[in-house]
Amino acid sequence: LTTVKEIYKNREEYLNKEVSVGGWVRSVRGSKAFGFIVLHDGTFFETLQVVYHDNMPNFAEISKLNVGAAIIVKGTLVPTPEAKQPFEIQAEEVQVEGASAPDYPLQKKRHTLEYLRTMTHLRPRTNTFQAVFRVRSLCAYAIHKFFQEKGFVYVHTPLITGSDCEGAGEMFQVTTLDMKNPPMNEDGTVDYSQDFFGKETNLTVSGQLNGETYAQAFRNIYTFGPTFRAENSNTTRHAAEFWMIEPECAFADLDDNMDLAEEMLKYVIRYVLENAPEEMNFFNSFIDKGLLDRLNHVVNSEFGHVTYTEAIELLEKNNDKFDYKVFWGCDLQTEHERYLTEQIFKKPVFVTDYPKEIKAFYMKQNEDGKTVAAMDCLVPGIGEIIGGSQREDDYDKLKARMDEMGLKAEEYQFYMDLRKYGSTRHSGFGLGFERCVMYLTGMGNIRDVIPFPRTVNNCDL
Ligand code: 4AD
Ligand code: MG
Repeated sequence: LTTVKEIYKNREEYLNKEVSVGGWVRSVRGSKAFGFIVLHDGTFFETLQVVYHDNMPNFAEISKLNVGAAIIVKGTLVPTPEAKQPFEIQAEEVQVEGASAPDYPLQKKRHTLEYLRTMTHLRPRTNTFQAVFRVRSLCAYAIHKFFQEKGFVYVHTPLITGSDCEGAGEMFQVTTLDMKNPPMNEDGTVDYSQDFFGKETNLTVSGQLNGETYAQAFRNIYTFGPTFRAENSNTTRHAAEFWMIEPECAFADLDDNMDLAEEMLKYVIRYVLENAPEEMNFFNSFIDKGLLDRLNHVVNSEFGHVTYTEAIELLEKNNDKFDYKVFWGCDLQTEHERYLTEQIFKKPVFVTDYPKEIKAFYMKQNEDGKTVAAMDCLVPGIGEIIGGSQREDDYDKLKARMDEMGLKAEEYQFYMDLRKYGSTRHSGFGLGFERCVMYLTGMGNIRDVIPFPRTVNNCDL
């Protein structure tokens, strides 16, 4: 079997020759003597039209095909200069591999994304999800390519862990204990010494702490894997299971970190624009008009930079527009992030030097004693897409901050050791992979860029 992609890409080789293609029926339209099938084979965004005639022995069977049926077509590829599509197959043979029942839920009309969310197993057969998931795949490849070309080592960090990297307590517990009737300590707490690992464990919220240990051995590393957060926020940009890319670099400060993030995002945008033009045109026409202009502008301009303190001053002037009023010390909400990047900067922007109270324990403390060397990258349409920082590399300062925050240094011994044995200035960030795909495609809901999304009250399939 050849593929629709191969036919489109090397059309000269195939025109007026015999081809065999396997795929699924998108539509059938027949008359007494002949009919048309629109075939999609999954290898390419475009479809192929098949013309069949009543000289075929199974003409009746073909005419009765429902949308969704799997067929193999053998015939001649002929040019159709007057038609919308550049060529079609004049079929000699249409073999029905698997018929489709008449109640097939996807029909030729446009279905809403909400409706398609109720059938995550069938939605990849639609135009929109063909485009989304091919771009998702290319985007993952581009990220690996970017870091590998720069000599970064890909580190696989564990999914089951005993620590809470972000300290936000938003973790899914992993246990083999019977939690309806768990073994108890004398003080009324659960006795985890009898659990599988002999201690309390959870699914990781970030690979960063493990990643840092490898950066202190390989210098430049990255992780790319699933992370889990039991955040009870039912929004269009939060998932309970999402993928994160976390580079970590020794001998790098916050500016180096932002340069790397900007270079990576631009590389990935360029790669996808070059390698998925059909899909990107589709998004630009049907999902987010102006997407291509915006992305082309982003790769050709510098990202904005603003400190948290400056950002608060800019936002405070617009407090009448917000549900949550901003003040110095508050955590930025999506509405504030979007206002900054969409209304004030009109491009991606790095916000730096956040108050230490709203950031994680591991961030490097600034001289002012109030802020930390953190950076978030905000993009139009989404808000935060990247969170990162320079890490505290001084043993005593880190220990003091952990004491202040009530974290037990003995549970982070490996992490403290890095500050004891050849500590370096080092930085890293986390890119939310799904938010990156949303940004590239213009899709507005994280549920529509994950094949099988896990969100509050939703773990189907
Ligand atoms: O800002 P976050 O929490 O940073 C970290 O986890 C650091 N340990 C990263 C690092 O420095 N190595 O998360 C990083 C990114 C966010 O900017 C966001 O894009 C994404 O991960 N993210 C989520 N994406 C989807 N659903 C969620 N619930 C997310 N939580 C964070
Ligand atoms: Mg963050």
